[in-house]
Amino acid sequence: MPDPFRHYEGVPVLDLPADPPIPETPALDVLNGVSGSTTAADGPTFLSQLLFNSAAISASKRVPSTGDRYALRVNPSSGNLHPTEFHFLTRGMKDWPDGLYHYRPSAHMAEQRALGGLEMKVAGGSAPIVFVLTSIVWREAWKYRERAYRYCLHDMGHAWQALALAARAMGCDSLAIGHFPDDTVAEFCRLHEDEWPMLIIELRGGAIPVREPDAGETIWYGGCANQLSKEITEYARINGIHAATKLIEPVRASIRTADPAPSGSGGIKLPPPATLRRSFGEVARSRRSALDFEGGMQSISLTQLSTLLATATRRFCSDFASTRFIQLYLYAHRVDGLDAGVYRFWPERAELETIERGDQRVVAAGLSLGQELAGNACVAFSMIGDLERAGRAHGDRGYRYVHFEAGAIGQRLYLAAQTLGLSATGIGAFYDEEVHRYLKLAPESGQVVYHFAIGYAVPDPRLEA
Ligand SMILES: Cc1cc2nc3c(=O)[nH]c(=O)nc-3n(C[C@H](O)[C@H](O)[C@H](O)COP(=O)(O)O)c2cc1C
Repeated sequence: MPDPFRHYEGVPVLDLPADPPIPETPALDVLNGVSGSTTAADGPTFLSQLLFNSAAISASKRVPSTGDRYALRVNPSSGNLHPTEFHFLTRGMKDWPDGLYHYRPSAHMAEQRALGGLEMKVAGGSAPIVFVLTSIVWREAWKYRERAYRYCLHDMGHAWQALALAARAMGCDSLAIGHFPDDTVAEFCRLHEDEWPMLIIELRGGAIPVREPDAGETIWYGGCANQLSKEITEYARINGIHAATKLIEPVRASIRTADPAPSGSGGIKLPPPATLRRSFGEVARSRRSALDFEGGMQSISLTQLSTLLATATRRFCSDFASTRFIQLYLYAHRVDGLDAGVYRFWPERAELETIERGDQRVVAAGLSLGQELAGNACVAFSMIGDLERAGRAHGDRGYRYVHFEAGAIGQRLYLAAQTLGLSATGIGAFYDEEVHRYLKLAPESGQVVYHFAIGYAVPDPRLEA
């Protein structure tokens, strides 16, 4: 297993204050687009609060046989392998030097890779905080081989929403930019060759404590990226798809608006979503994946299901998701007032369309690579991505965007479930072709890109706060 933490060594490391304030705005409000506020009056506290609620370590697990502990973070990750790295540029933040930083989650600190004014001309604009999220695919590939690329894209979608929602809870707007020339951004950030830039996220808003930007020369420290493994195995298909989905300059002119998502209706109208007061900070920091769910009789209400679906399918702020590419199919096992079956969700009308009737527990588990949690949950999901429509608008780059959207929906489902007193688990392992056959999906009507499950978690004795 490669080192789970990337460090850029030989650079100044700046403290982020411990125990930053908790964003108190209700999590469901934040998920529904309401901006919160922050008491952070300076740059270090602001950045600390932002990262503490989006990317920091939030718990640990202890392996009973060896006593070894390993870290869990606010953002989830396939196999807890965390291929996503958080770099950020700041300009004009109070009591914080302008520069380029890399977040060090193991110590909740910022590695200062460059000092002074930096402007990434191709993306990011003049925002006071610009994140560059990268993937280290080897972190996933040593275990999941070629499928790792998809997991990295899902994880990126989760990290994007973790960051965007934490920012909103603190009163900031965010815009995700997927359409940028990869190599130009990698060179600008002087990334190690094993790190690939995937998403750029601009943060703006009156909540960010600002001052005049620094004038003067930029000093580059760069830093030496730690070696994650003695040797790595190259996967030609991963390199191939990454190369095929890259953009080269100039790219701005080529952003196209995708054809609208299909709209439809179903016979089952969902009730209005719930409102709850649980704070964003508490929900984000306590989110955990369930290892398995209590099978039994306990069910969720139709209002809970409606809340999950409504919060998961709200519009995203990005340059690639002006229209949605993902459609949700549900395997309803135990939802009050809803017969067991498969349903398609139509978000505009908040309606469910019946696709298949009857008990789906064995099927959902079977399709999810035999993982019982998909059958023991109260509801499981297949996220169906319209890769053709994404491709028509964005070319091969669209492949990334569909997976980012799936991960982003997953992150919203995690947080909504946690708020409702339920638990969730992302499921990257499923049998693609069998899902298409079971849902009777014609090739042009989409492909399965992600599975998900929500229910009542079986307690995990290894978990330590
Ligand atoms: C993209 C993605 C795919 C995942 N796939 C699976 C899966 O197939 N089976 C499973 O049990 N957990 C899966 N998980 C859950 C991870 O194992 C979990 O996020 C990780 O162990 C970290 O734990 P945490 O979410 O509690 O922080 C997945 C998570 C993500 C984000």
